[in-house]
Amino acid sequence: MTTPTSDAPALTSHAPEWARRRSFAIISHPDAGKTTLTETLLLSAGAIRLAGQVRARGENRRTQSDWMKIEQERGISVSASVMTFEHRALLFNLLDTPGHEDFSEDTYRTLTAADSAIMVLDAAKGVEPRTLKLVEVCRLRDIPIVTFINKMDREALDPVDLLEDIQDKLALDTVPMQWPSGSGNRFKGVLDLKTRELVGYQKPSDDRDPTEASPRWALEGDEILEHISAEEQAELDEGAEVASELCPAFKMQSFLEGHMTPVFFGSALRGFGVRELLDGLADIIPGPAAMPAIRNGQAVELEPGGKEVAGFVFKVQANMDPNHRDRVAFVRLCSGVFKRGMKLKTEAGKQLTVSSPILFFAQDREIADEAFAGDVMGVPNHGTLRVGDSLSESGKLRFSGIPNFAPEILRRARLADPLKAKHLKKALESLAEEGVTQLFRPTLGGDFIVGAVGALQIDVMRERVAAEYGLEVDFEPAPYDTARWLSGDRVKIEEFADRHKSAMAEDINGDPVFLAKSAWEVSYSEEKFPDLTFHRAKERS
Ligand code: G4P
Repeated sequence: MTTPTSDAPALTSHAPEWARRRSFAIISHPDAGKTTLTETLLLSAGAIRLAGQVRARGENRRTQSDWMKIEQERGISVSASVMTFEHRALLFNLLDTPGHEDFSEDTYRTLTAADSAIMVLDAAKGVEPRTLKLVEVCRLRDIPIVTFINKMDREALDPVDLLEDIQDKLALDTVPMQWPSGSGNRFKGVLDLKTRELVGYQKPSDDRDPTEASPRWALEGDEILEHISAEEQAELDEGAEVASELCPAFKMQSFLEGHMTPVFFGSALRGFGVRELLDGLADIIPGPAAMPAIRNGQAVELEPGGKEVAGFVFKVQANMDPNHRDRVAFVRLCSGVFKRGMKLKTEAGKQLTVSSPILFFAQDREIADEAFAGDVMGVPNHGTLRVGDSLSESGKLRFSGIPNFAPEILRRARLADPLKAKHLKKALESLAEEGVTQLFRPTLGGDFIVGAVGALQIDVMRERVAAEYGLEVDFEPAPYDTARWLSGDRVKIEEFADRHKSAMAEDINGDPVFLAKSAWEVSYSEEKFPDLTFHRAKERS
């Protein structure tokens, strides 16, 4: 029989504070239950009391900012946020990833700040298209993935088919930690494959405490027969057998390297299986690991217990309050012990005193006096910090790996009132710095070109430019299909730029970009200029 073993490092009372941090994200296809699971996890951890708070919080936040009307109208979650809660002496940072596929860039950046991910699947649907894409994104960094098969209270696919679906479509080895007993009306709970106890499913009732663990009965005992039939008992025994024949044993190393996923079953809506998932997370998901960075041109691995305080900005949220043009940069700390009031520098030499850093506890935001590697800290600023910026005490560190992706949609920004050109420049630059869209200044002609990976990004841009800057802008089609960042010998770049004046632009950092009319034009240019590299993605620096 498969016996999951936990060889995660034990947490002793002498363990450093950073070793308690667990930063993770939830990924799912829309409607699989990400929001419901977030809420139930927070309930199970005792971080919130009433169901509905995650949504309510979302609604409150939305009313503060007009542009978020889009979220409400389209019923999608556009902005990323973070929620912190405690469980079993660990401090979990749950990073919310945008659910819509147009925001894969944003999702990728959020995942750069997570040390693991929970993949939520709908038990009746298995792996869906968006799940596939998100797992691809996780693969870019090989972060470990825990699977939660949700909605077992409804008719579900056979567990074997679900496991095979994950193996075939995602090329992940699956290790069920539990085996379900039926589904829908016949759902009786899940067999804990380690202890061989049935975790009994009880329909929720008003007087049941959601933080309370579900009852358990030994599979081999008689007591279980008061709750399930002998036939169901035999089926479970067979299920456990199938699990051990079909799936390898859990190996911590394979999980940490992103090749193996432990699988849990439950119903987020009914609050079932979530407590077990939370305990499973506490057992196996990793804390902060060493992060690759560059110091004075040298590649280094920055240890979470290292001395220098350092981190990177993976998200900037601006204009939450339209009356103040303030921004909150979400900084993932990677090493050192941050103390309130500390001076930190970006690698470009900008310095700021971090006097009111925010930690995001599930129920409210708190000014932090201290923060550790693995924490996500909100740093209010007036535009100093951009997505991808590295922050450190010396200002000599640079984290890599937060890219811009080649835009697939390019639009020309045309103002209804040409006298407001200066305002438009400011608005577009500010939103590009936030990472909402990309911005290119063509070498010839005065109009800005806005680039996006998905169409919805352009809609968000239009709404925000109108709501926050009072500008009416038409984002009309531009004659370009995609963009490529150029690198190589300076003289060669100049030669290329000279021959393609009408297709050259600069990005927000002044780097040269080729705006191509088609994929064919990109390959043709690559052949003609073999000394130049045409990059699909540009690492932010
Ligand atoms: P998402 O964030 O991944 O998009 O999914 P969300 O949690 O919003 O859930 C999508 C729908 O699925 C919701 O129903 C939710 O209540 C339902 N759901 C989530 N988990 C479970 C589960 O374990 N069992 C069952 N039966 N349903 C579940 P809705 O009708 O679209 O929204 P609502 O009116 O309930 O808010």
